[in-house]
Amino acid sequence: MDLYEYQARDMFEKYGVPVLAGIVADTPAEARAAAEKLGGVTVVKAQVKTGGRGKAGGVKVAKTPDDAEAAAEAILGLDIKGHVVKRLMVAAGADIQQEYYFSVLLDRSNRSYLSLSSYEGGMEIEQLAEERPDALARVEVDPIEGITLEKATEIAVAAKFPAELVDKVAPVFVKLYEVYTGEDATLVEVNPLVLTGSGEIVALDGKVSLDDNASEVRHHDHEALEDKDAADPLEAKAKAAGLNYVKLDGEVGIIGNGAGLVMSTLDVVAYAGENHSGVKPANFLDIGGGASAEIMAAGLDVILGDPQVKSVFVNVFGGITSCVAVANGIVKALEILGDSATKPLVVRLDGNQVEEGRAILAAAAHPLVTIATGMDEGADKAAELASK
Ligand SMILES: Nc1ncnc2c1ncn2[C@@H]1O[C@H](COP(=O)(O)OP(=O)(O)OP(=O)(O)O)[C@@H](O)[C@H]1O
Ligand SMILES: [Mg+2]
Repeated sequence: MDLYEYQARDMFEKYGVPVLAGIVADTPAEARAAAEKLGGVTVVKAQVKTGGRGKAGGVKVAKTPDDAEAAAEAILGLDIKGHVVKRLMVAAGADIQQEYYFSVLLDRSNRSYLSLSSYEGGMEIEQLAEERPDALARVEVDPIEGITLEKATEIAVAAKFPAELVDKVAPVFVKLYEVYTGEDATLVEVNPLVLTGSGEIVALDGKVSLDDNASEVRHHDHEALEDKDAADPLEAKAKAAGLNYVKLDGEVGIIGNGAGLVMSTLDVVAYAGENHSGVKPANFLDIGGGASAEIMAAGLDVILGDPQVKSVFVNVFGGITSCVAVANGIVKALEILGDSATKPLVVRLDGNQVEEGRAILAAAAHPLVTIATGMDEGADKAAELASK
């Protein structure tokens, strides 16, 4: 889960990372009130989970509460790279002398942590990495040792901070690393980290991505950070039912067991779709090992709720789970769903007790169900039904 800037700001504050005051506002009137409360120059900032807000007109300096209200008026509703602004943060204005860059992230390819930092901030980091790669220090961080003050100093020196600044930024790097490990984040990024006129180091912007696997068991407070309104309604429904579902753009609903089988089913359906007016998979859904009637019903319910779906391909390999249980699950799920099941289903079962499973489906003779014997054949049939 990615956090909004204001959530990252609050998290930073909790860990003692220097930040400026900031107040969330959802309307121009709230923005005015926030600016009055903060006093002085403020900055009205769009809260969207994408970068480049400044360039898109989503960050505006306001000298007075009137300005803040007008800025809020202009920013709310703005579309920034497909994200519509619904919320703002009114932040105290900083007297910026210099802008720097710092991040620490999970480096999957090296099975380690990586810190990226630069004395030359104020530029988009992707651009900096491309145009001036030597200005961006990449320092591996040992997950066991972490960013100690000594390591932070090494990072600051590598990023070419002058000696008098190294001692100022290094403790902030340590604190940011404490956010990173303390919250089980996969990314903590500050762009810009600034030096103010009074010589303070402040994090003016924050991007934090949390590891959802850790949030579920180790950080129950993370759930409150989730933006339930912004989630895709089908994904939210699936999540509530404990299903592993990702909405895609096509017409053929997919249900399978095991992530690998589901991924290959997506490929096979996309391939088959080329012969049937280009239909594509509508989703990823892994119902896991059990495949009980309840899980099957919940899965079908989510998929059939997608108005784009024209057909469904159920592709299950019975390993430990027998095809008998899966077939019974499908039959019962269709009973549970009753009239709300309206789209054709192609079912391919294989593996443990496959003959018995197919016999159960054949005996039920549900008008919406077609039995397929192979994966390619099933994908082709489902694609054909979706293209009609
Ligand atoms: N509180 C503030 N006071 C003064 N200037 C600010 C403040 N917040 C942001 N700025 C200025 O606006 C610029 C853009 O702000 P910010 O980094 O938050 O947005 P962004 O870079 O567009 O977003 P992202 O980093 O997500 O791409 C900063 O580089 C800084 O110069
Ligand atoms: Mg920024």
